[in-house]
Amino acid sequence: MLIAGNWKMFKGPSDAAAFCRDLRDADLPDGVDVVVCPPYVSLADAVQVLAGTEIGVFAQNCHWAEDGAFTGEVSAGMLRELGVYGTIVGHSERRQYFGETDETVAKRTEAALAAGLHVIACVGETEAEREAGETETVIRRQVSVLDADESLVVAYEPVWAIGTGKTATPQIAQDAHALIKSLIDVPVLYGGSVKPDNAAELMGQPAVDGALVGGASLDVESFAAICTAART
Ligand code: 13P
Repeated sequence: MLIAGNWKMFKGPSDAAAFCRDLRDADLPDGVDVVVCPPYVSLADAVQVLAGTEIGVFAQNCHWAEDGAFTGEVSAGMLRELGVYGTIVGHSERRQYFGETDETVAKRTEAALAAGLHVIACVGETEAEREAGETETVIRRQVSVLDADESLVVAYEPVWAIGTGKTATPQIAQDAHALIKSLIDVPVLYGGSVKPDNAAELMGQPAVDGALVGGASLDVESFAAICTAART
């Protein structure tokens, strides 16, 4: 099981350091891999505070070039130099608001893996796509640009469940995960309004290998509770 906390654009360096100190001291279960994904500016503090622990630090995105004229972007090599262990790629907020496409997601994933980072690549349909009966087509298209790799994990995040409090039913998650696993042989995380009170049921589905948690990962107590729920 892997539980990753995607902080999105929350927690600058001092808040991140304080959170990581509390997380370091929290009672986290054995057998569950725990990862936090702070904003770029807070990565160094998170890495420093969590050094020597089992808790990994991931970025939220990563460019495909080693360096170059790409204002606002950060490369895999730069993240590695900071001691960052992996990165999220292709989050739906990147796809929705920042023009990320399947093609750029593929390039970012490939470059990050080649540079030695672990990758959580996100896929998932919008509400309109689900209502139009296009869920399977969308997932197949998004997954088709990814190649299995021992450092790759896919996160299924239905866009209609992100930040809405509208969690996918365990059956919806199971069906989507089973589809993804039939296309690519990697662990699959569920993301979308995962909370302490729904985590155990979601994590109990056979094709669910962990969670990518947004809002509920911003509080140490609820994040630790989700990690604990993942073990049971
Ligand atoms: P929420 O848990 O806030 O719905 O966010 C999910 C998500 O987007 C994680 O990447």
